[in-house]
Amino acid sequence: MAQNLMDKIVSLCKRRGFIFQGSEIYGGLSNTWDYGPYGVELKNNLKKAWWRSNVYERDDILGMDAAILMHPKVWEASGHVENFFDLKSDCKSCKKRFKTEALKDKNKCPECGGELTDSRPFNLMFKTYQGPIEDASSAIYMRPETAQGMFVNFLNILDSRHPKLPFGLAQIGKSFRNEITPGNFTFRTREFEQMEIEYFCRPEEADKFYDSWVEERFNWYLKLGLKKENLRKRQHSKEELAHYAKACTDIEYRFPFSTSGDDWSELEGIANRQDFDLKQHSKISGKELMYFDDQKKEKFYPYIIEPSGGVDRSVLAVLADAYHEEKVREDTRVVLKLNKEMAPTKVAVLPLLRNRPEIVELARRISKELKKSMVTVYDDTGAIGKLYRRQDEVGTLYCVTVDVQSLEDKQVTVRERDSMRQERISVDSLGEYLINRLK
Ligand code: GAP
Repeated sequence: MAQNLMDKIVSLCKRRGFIFQGSEIYGGLSNTWDYGPYGVELKNNLKKAWWRSNVYERDDILGMDAAILMHPKVWEASGHVENFFDLKSDCKSCKKRFKTEALKDKNKCPECGGELTDSRPFNLMFKTYQGPIEDASSAIYMRPETAQGMFVNFLNILDSRHPKLPFGLAQIGKSFRNEITPGNFTFRTREFEQMEIEYFCRPEEADKFYDSWVEERFNWYLKLGLKKENLRKRQHSKEELAHYAKACTDIEYRFPFSTSGDDWSELEGIANRQDFDLKQHSKISGKELMYFDDQKKEKFYPYIIEPSGGVDRSVLAVLADAYHEEKVREDTRVVLKLNKEMAPTKVAVLPLLRNRPEIVELARRISKELKKSMVTVYDDTGAIGKLYRRQDEVGTLYCVTVDVQSLEDKQVTVRERDSMRQERISVDSLGEYLINRLK
């Protein structure tokens, strides 16, 4: 049943233009995914919601957008060159590669029973070369997290914006990891997008801000529309903590990956990174990344609380949570119950009869007018039942239908997605009516 649900979501994503297999016409590049017309809107809505609540609605967080390619010494300072690897074992027969820690029997291939090699460290960073000559001196990495771009700009932010502690930096952008076991659709990929905040504070206040960020971020996922019973917090054990962290809590979502339907997996991690990063970059760059408190006349390395979430994982959770099937008479209605903010399209304008030019003309005029204030689509490519079904499947909030009667009484039918309730509204007040409902 649950496995079915994931398959249904993947199939809806392709059928309706949310997410496609990357490079599909060439047989696909495994574990790469392309966001289609509805997918990009949903993803942008999610990023906008994050940016609004973390940057625009707060006085203490500034946004930024750093380069993906960074100086190789950044990854020495961050510990990625030394620590960012997985141990892996290869099967000598079928040549498949496995994470050693996931193997029950460290010597036997779980797929073909063949003999496994000894485990070897495998760095997860993508290496490339800058400039025309491919040698060791031009080797650089694609960033495996957006975080470092914020640490290395700490002094630039202090000098240009003069923020007082506590303050944060926020960034959304692509990261790259050469994952050994990508999978579960867009959940674990080698190219993905992160939404990260680095919140700088006095060391003695770090525990307090860590606790408040865990709560704040949990509540943000509820505001996205995710059901509370599908969300939980999980504190990392000491053994699990990354080399820089004093504490870390994951916000997990119950993904429908397997038949058990109980696949609690990480959406976001909130970590207390202490003063590890600023100290390390100071040491390796030779620039002192310290904060001067001019009231207390003291200089110190701030601690950092880092809420770090994944855009693609959040989009997948939103899709899974919104997917509904309902019996309507003999039929099954598939509807994506996305909230107002997440729905890729707010309104669809549909002419009841596409061979009546006056109806089509009025419908097009209404659509053109609505487009000025909300994301609206016009669709006349099928019978009305089919058009409604299509809009339900992509989560469109309202369908406006123009019929023969509309030509006489200048009214249209507005159908609400979830209740399927229909109302006749005059064309003149339609814009205001919808704006009020979408508020
Ligand atoms: N700067 C800290 C950091 O990067 P992380 O737990 O490794 O921490 C943060 O990553 C978030 O990025 C994860 O919670 C997840 O949502 C997302 N993420 C990490 N690796 C991913 C991957 N291979 N595919 C998709 N999303 C990923």
